[in-house]
Amino acid sequence: MLRKDVKSFDKNVFDEIGNKAAILISGDKNGFNGMTISWGALGVIWNKNVVFVFVRHSRYTYDFMEKSDSVTLSFLDDKYKKEKGLFGSLSGRNIDKFKETGLHHTYDPDFDGYYITECDYVFKCKKLYSVDLNDLPKDINEKFYKDNDIHRMYICEIKQYLVKNLDD
Ligand SMILES: Cc1cc2nc3c(=O)[nH]c(=O)nc-3n(C[C@H](O)[C@H](O)[C@H](O)COP(=O)(O)O)c2cc1C
Repeated sequence: MLRKDVKSFDKNVFDEIGNKAAILISGDKNGFNGMTISWGALGVIWNKNVVFVFVRHSRYTYDFMEKSDSVTLSFLDDKYKKEKGLFGSLSGRNIDKFKETGLHHTYDPDFDGYYITECDYVFKCKKLYSVDLNDLPKDINEKFYKDNDIHRMYICEIKQYLVKNLDD
């Protein structure tokens, strides 16, 4: 992987996150878990380049988001659609998603976090702030939170942007 300036990122974020989806991995050497996300944002706050991600309390990944500061977003080609589907439908509480899909994880000891080895690019991030999404408009509440399984929003600073080295 090649390290790049995140400001050189020039992809369509609506397509990359909303349509193609990413695999979020939360956790560190003490334990980690990954799940698919297609709600999220890239942006700037407090003069830092950040990602915003939204994780429901029911996700196993939520436990790691609360315990650890390391978060990565791995973006994979759509030839891995099935694998992204599995990461987004089964829980790490019950199965080993890496074993099940054949995807691999790479550990970065300096960062103390994991990302998907097969990704085209990855944002390695550290959690800055989080808040539960409460007091939402009634129509949104009824549509998305009938069962009270609320999202927690995490703002995470992008520490490194790595892109696949096409020569590898
Ligand atoms: C395309 C797609 C996008 C998803 N986006 C999100 C998301 O942004 N936030 C979220 O909490 N769950 C999202 N999910 C659901 C989780 O990925 C799913 O519940 C997963 O199985 C949770 O795994 P875990 O229990 O191992 O954490 C998405 C699922 C799919 C298939």
